[in-house]
Amino acid sequence: MKIDVLTCFPEMIDPVIHESMVKRAREKGLVDIQVHDLRDFSKDKHRKTDDYPFGGGDGMVMTPQPLYDGIRTLLRNAPKDAHSRVLFPTPDGVMFTQPLSEALAKEEHLIFVCGHYKGIDQRIRDMLITDEISIGDYVLTSGELSSLVIMDAVIRLIPGVLNEINSALSDSFSKPLLDCPWYSRPEIFEGIAIPEVLMSGHHANIDTWREEERIRKTKERRPDMWKAYQDKGDDKNG
Ligand code: ADE
Repeated sequence: MKIDVLTCFPEMIDPVIHESMVKRAREKGLVDIQVHDLRDFSKDKHRKTDDYPFGGGDGMVMTPQPLYDGIRTLLRNAPKDAHSRVLFPTPDGVMFTQPLSEALAKEEHLIFVCGHYKGIDQRIRDMLITDEISIGDYVLTSGELSSLVIMDAVIRLIPGVLNEINSALSDSFSKPLLDCPWYSRPEIFEGIAIPEVLMSGHHANIDTWREEERIRKTKERRPDMWKAYQDKGDDKNG
């Protein structure tokens, strides 16, 4: 997969893509991430990328010209025959979910457009953005952080990125319940022992315990998910 990131703050993206899972995915050649400074596309003599909103109001809006030239350049340089998706993370987008992450992981080319201030000129959204995505009902100051969140969730789903495909499959949200608690060595830490069943070697009992814990946590923390899970069961049972 090729990922292009168009941003006024390349230095916010660089440290993250040079560490951990994303770094390994790049080293394995499974993802190629290119970070582009939006200011390099500005025709303004001061490399400006924002201006005051027409009609008044607080804050600045990112102007269309650098975005138009930047996105079109990245589309022109897309991998051959790739279908490109141009993503704009924004609090007024559709909610980012695991199914959307799974769909994006199947694409060959993603372009992230990082917005700031009040956002970007609506004409760019209408003309060039294919997906407007929110990562939650709160407002961040920068699209760089939300782009990184989406990138992480997508890249880990590309086949070959995680050693253990099972660990991705058993995550919360890959199944419709939250994940169960997990423990590692030592068996007793600060006087607190792990649940006995995990030491029993009885795999069926361990599976049952894990399922019960997932149900307990989901009921407690996400009544909406628990209801959807029950409704789905009802559908299956006719
Ligand atoms: N940019 C600022 N806030 C955001 C959010 N909640 N989701 C996606 N992008 C954002």
